[in-house]
Amino acid sequence: MNITDLRINGDRLKNTLETMAKIGATPGGGVQRLTLSDEDKKARDLFVEWLEELRLKITIDEMGNIFGQRGGKNNDLPPVMSGSHIDSQPKGGRFDGILGVMGPLEVMRTLHENNIQTERPVVIVNWTNEEGSRFAPAMVASGVWTGVLDRDWVYQRTDINGKKFVDELERIGYKGKASAKKRPLHAYYEYHIEQGPILQREGKVIGAPKGILCLHWYDIYLEGEANQVGPTPMEGRHDALCAAAEMILKVDHLPEKMGGNMVATVGEIQNAPNSRNIIPDKVHFTVDIRSWDDELALDAWDNLKADFKSIAGRRGCPIRIEETWRVEHSPFAERLVQRVLNTAKELGYPSLRMVSGAGHDASYMNQIAPTSMIFVPSIDGRSHVEVEKTTWEDCEAGANVLLHSILKSASETGD
Ligand code: GLV
Ligand code: MN
Ligand code: MN
Repeated sequence: MNITDLRINGDRLKNTLETMAKIGATPGGGVQRLTLSDEDKKARDLFVEWLEELRLKITIDEMGNIFGQRGGKNNDLPPVMSGSHIDSQPKGGRFDGILGVMGPLEVMRTLHENNIQTERPVVIVNWTNEEGSRFAPAMVASGVWTGVLDRDWVYQRTDINGKKFVDELERIGYKGKASAKKRPLHAYYEYHIEQGPILQREGKVIGAPKGILCLHWYDIYLEGEANQVGPTPMEGRHDALCAAAEMILKVDHLPEKMGGNMVATVGEIQNAPNSRNIIPDKVHFTVDIRSWDDELALDAWDNLKADFKSIAGRRGCPIRIEETWRVEHSPFAERLVQRVLNTAKELGYPSLRMVSGAGHDASYMNQIAPTSMIFVPSIDGRSHVEVEKTTWEDCEAGANVLLHSILKSASETGD
């Protein structure tokens, strides 16, 4: 068979995704597989079982990252790597992340059953805690692996119940022995759903992002004065939740104030004591700012921070700000972006050059290896929700583009 005629098995990919979607399935049709939870462990165990069936060389590192390597003709050459994440958002979708792990698994299965020997090794990876919704920030394990984040800082991060990342990693049995340390790679491809509306709107099947927006995360802690709501007059109150409410609207107005090319969101809030008849005295909320323009995002933050301080002062609510995490915008390797577009064309899929508004491990991988991504449409642009959906046909198309992009990179003998 001519290698250009090789295709992945769409039915098998669908079955694999459906099997995974049962782990942590939610009544609304989504999944909840929070990082380092029992559901995450169960899905990892199944993933490792599938890697073993292919007799891949499996490595689990100290961040819980799982690698499966398929040898090439020349194992001294840096490999081609592809992967994403098994963890999900709370009440998340059945495609975010997992498609980018099951996609390369399907590629491996296709290479195996057709006895294809690549020049370079090919490695599949599941990165721990891409989502950052249980333990902030996101993409921490690729962050440590690439040498950008400190392992012990990540180990000490806590969830909302005070549980530590490292303890949960140990509890589920995925604190491996290998050090989480980068190795030379020839190329990194991440396959993912778009998570936005553009491909569907434009009638395209494959998206090739030229890169990912910058991502800035902040945590705001406010203190007020708790009191009985009935007898306490309105004047003289120090209501931490009202201070937060004013601040949250400042976040919502920020992109317009700064002149666009930016999104800003408050997605998480905790209010204490959270009783209808006590004035709130402790509030925590998050701020997420993204843009292609890192400077604009930083200026926006300075502007916002000044507003926060003035609101806190006026309301007599002391404020503490944690500048939790920043990842710069990531322009991908143009050669690999072109490769994705060309491969889509060769396979007959209409494609589009675009930008990724969602964060991905590809952001960190881009700092150490030539990187690009393959997107497929999200129906009605919905993602991080239970109704998240991509057609099986599009899942198959993206996996075929992944297969041939990997094959091209894995056949290169030079740099
Ligand atoms: C990752 O899921 C993100 O927040 O974009
Ligand atoms: Mn994802
Ligand atoms: Mn996500």
